[in-house]
Amino acid sequence: MRRGILLWNSLLSTMSRPLLHSRAQSLSLGCPSSVSRKRLHTVAAAAPVAGERRAKANVDWDSLGFGLKDVAETMYVSEWTPDKGWDQGKLVPYGPITIMPSAQVLNYGQGIFEGMKAQESAKGRVVVFRPDQNAARFKAGAARMSMPAVPEEQFVEAVKSTVAANLDYVPPIGKGSLYLRPLLLGTGPILGLGPAPSYTFTIFAAAVGAYFKGGQLTPIDLIVEERFHRAAPGGMGGTKAAGNYSPVLVTQLEAKKNGFSDVVYLDAKTDTYLEEVSSCNIFVVKGRTIKTPPLQGTILPGVTRRSIVELARSRGYDVREEPVTVHEAMEADEVFTTGTAVVVSSVGSMVYRGQRRQYTEPGQAGKVALEMYSNLTDIQTERADDNFGWVVPIN
Ligand code: COI
Repeated sequence: MRRGILLWNSLLSTMSRPLLHSRAQSLSLGCPSSVSRKRLHTVAAAAPVAGERRAKANVDWDSLGFGLKDVAETMYVSEWTPDKGWDQGKLVPYGPITIMPSAQVLNYGQGIFEGMKAQESAKGRVVVFRPDQNAARFKAGAARMSMPAVPEEQFVEAVKSTVAANLDYVPPIGKGSLYLRPLLLGTGPILGLGPAPSYTFTIFAAAVGAYFKGGQLTPIDLIVEERFHRAAPGGMGGTKAAGNYSPVLVTQLEAKKNGFSDVVYLDAKTDTYLEEVSSCNIFVVKGRTIKTPPLQGTILPGVTRRSIVELARSRGYDVREEPVTVHEAMEADEVFTTGTAVVVSSVGSMVYRGQRRQYTEPGQAGKVALEMYSNLTDIQTERADDNFGWVVPIN
């Protein structure tokens, strides 16, 4: 463990140099549980000030999109084997992980992921949003996919370490965020159908801006999908499994070709109720009532979804997690979507069976969407008091 702490301190001393790492560096993090406080304390002392950070990363903060153009230099990797369990994890330069063609994840899809964001806050520090929620969902996802769970404390420490090692890539406040992508993969080889004999937990990161083309506050246009379903009762729609995200491409790509931003899925049993959009959850507004489909195993339990439910209630809205018919959505005053990547995105229009419902003036975000977006991002960037205790500082 002592070696781990020494190596961590040596990582911190490299953070004040012009380049965070040489390509060859690979640093053990030590025991996640016992060094965490000490580690974070030391990060605070060593963290470069905002101006220095921005100069070093050489990122054009004004043209950030949602992609890998500005991928962060350092990633986290931990391995699981049956005899040793999860190792201590280490920070290494962002780059390929080597696996055999027989890796379980490549053959049978044993893989889950998370999406999280670190942001510069109005208090001049870097914060992450509700990492405990992602840790819990990652654990539940591992159970659903018969993979060894990453202990929640290790998950949160790994996230903090990855952010601390990549502070140069955290955009200035209001310009974007450092998007974190934790992955849990069955990387061990197998031929017959069964769980992998070994696993990899890794986190990479990239500086990102708005998810949808057109920018954060430009309303998106959706079409209700009538042929395909995203998930079925008893399936794994509620798991953030890699396998849930490629089957949607066939509909999403066609929708994009026809000028839509994304598609809305209906329930597989009755084709009556909204489920979610390919990349985010959905909310409908009528007067002071806000509804979102309930979590019944087919819908992703979004951290932003949960946060908006709690935030809207605290602001006096009557928030209901109950089935929403597509007809109700077409009659709603407003519709918006939520997700880590999309944050809160106003829906400008929705098409169902050839009928278009226009919710907002062209180019104008809906009132409630805007209110939720501002309230949430004010908390996430500490412009407003975090009365919920959602924000976790890194430095
Ligand atoms: C996120 O919102 O972070 C996600 O993981 C969704 C993904 C399709 C971008």
